[in-house]
Amino acid sequence: MRVLSKKMEQLEDEVKEMSEKKMLKLIEEYKENELLLDRLHDIQNKFGYLPEEELVELAAEKEIPKAHLYGIVSFYSRFYTEPVGKYKVRICKSISCGMNSSKKILKVISESLGINPGETTEDKLFTLEAVECLGHCGEGPVITVNDKVYGEITEAKALEILEEYIERGEKHERRKIS
Ligand code: FES
Repeated sequence: MRVLSKKMEQLEDEVKEMSEKKMLKLIEEYKENELLLDRLHDIQNKFGYLPEEELVELAAEKEIPKAHLYGIVSFYSRFYTEPVGKYKVRICKSISCGMNSSKKILKVISESLGINPGETTEDKLFTLEAVECLGHCGEGPVITVNDKVYGEITEAKALEILEEYIERGEKHERRKIS
């Protein structure tokens, strides 16, 4: 009986040690991924998107396959590998917003900007995206412009918001020129 309980203790220790190791490995991987995401965000903030040369450099620096890095980039919809507009307009196309006429709102925005989802205006002011749930289902239909969330959007409200950003964009350009 004593032998059995000794064995059990040993086994428990082994299991404990194994899970600690596994846990540490997971924490390490998590930290690495967090650092990688931070770097990707920094690059995107600097260039407005993730240029190919920067990704190649980052993959070499971190000693990870380029395909692995591209996998991460394509998993997060907020990373862009092509230049995008100053204002990213996202409209939720998921069910709750869909029931609240998000399709109509998308049509109005699309017509007003003269672009389809996935496209950028020629002046590089807006990129339009139709995306899955933006996490504000109770306020649908919902759009975001960069990180700002707008709920209970109507067609008129959507146009007002676009106007506001057009004005901001023009002011910014004027400031740059003067
Ligand atoms: S369904 Fe539109 S924000 Fe969730």
